[in-house]
Amino acid sequence: MINPLQSLAQFYLPKQASNFAAETDFLFNAILWISIVSFVAIVVVMVWFAVIYRRRPGYVPKSSPSHSLGLELLWTIGPSLILIWIFFEGASGYATLKTPANDAEVIEVTAFQFGWIFTYPNGEVSETLHLSVNQPVRLQMTSNDVIHSFYVPEFRAKMDIMPGRKHSMWFKPTLIGDYKLFCTEYCGEGHSKMVRDVIVHAEPWKEMLRKNVRYREDQNHPVANGHRLYKLWCGGCHSYDGSAKTGPSFKGLASLTNREFADGSTLSFSGSESDEWQNYISESIRKPDARIVKGYPNQMPSFEGKLSPEQIGYIIRFLREVDGGTYTEPAKPATESEVEAGAEAATTPQ
Ligand code: CUA
Repeated sequence: MINPLQSLAQFYLPKQASNFAAETDFLFNAILWISIVSFVAIVVVMVWFAVIYRRRPGYVPKSSPSHSLGLELLWTIGPSLILIWIFFEGASGYATLKTPANDAEVIEVTAFQFGWIFTYPNGEVSETLHLSVNQPVRLQMTSNDVIHSFYVPEFRAKMDIMPGRKHSMWFKPTLIGDYKLFCTEYCGEGHSKMVRDVIVHAEPWKEMLRKNVRYREDQNHPVANGHRLYKLWCGGCHSYDGSAKTGPSFKGLASLTNREFADGSTLSFSGSESDEWQNYISESIRKPDARIVKGYPNQMPSFEGKLSPEQIGYIIRFLREVDGGTYTEPAKPATESEVEAGAEAATTPQ
């Protein structure tokens, strides 16, 4: 639907990149222009009357009519019709917004201080939201800590996310491109760091997932796997270079010999190969509230069921690696075909 009013006013709004954008803009512009026209009409007549009917010497005011049925009907029925139209436009738009398309793919969205995790139907996770053009998606959103708000201006899609609740929204991206996701609820000192990329790809959904959201954990690089998991799940609250964040830093964690907890108890370790240390790390990931490190808040969500024992193992390998506070990412093969070629070479007897 091309509306002349709309294209005229479109220059000051973001691109229209979802199925809701045109409808939302149309109603927004309609209300805006109704307001502008009414404002101008009222103010112009008011100033005009103030000038021509001003008090002047020798001018005697004439008596004015006290009642005009026609005029009163006009200014009652006219605005009422406009308001009823706005209500129905808004209500029908809201109904569409709340009724996901049947073929919508579900993406789970977890908001936390300070980032976003997207979990796709194939079980993979990413920090960037990958979508396929014209593939409707339903976002099932939840927050790990405080209230955040999901907002992609180009999609005209916005919703608050409260901890302990599920929120659902849907849309169909209609324009290939790169957009930004913003958190629009002030959620702490890192609020402004919650900007993430949203990419609408040209490939159909399955193809897009295979190319962009497929991660094969590499048995030969447990530390790199751990680093990836760290970036996704731990990095928001735990540094590994010793800098202060919400939770204790991972620097020196592997060489820890003694840990003091908030309840006054302590644990001693004889190195990161010891059962005590490994059990403590595993427990801290699965049941973080069991033992709170002295001086830190009890804020971490449980990762029980979210991380497999292998993945916890990768994180442990990574923790040992960053004990000194630094980490250098290993060079990655450039393309997927190189990875596949490498895997074949490794398994094919020469
Ligand atoms: Cu999350 Cu602001």
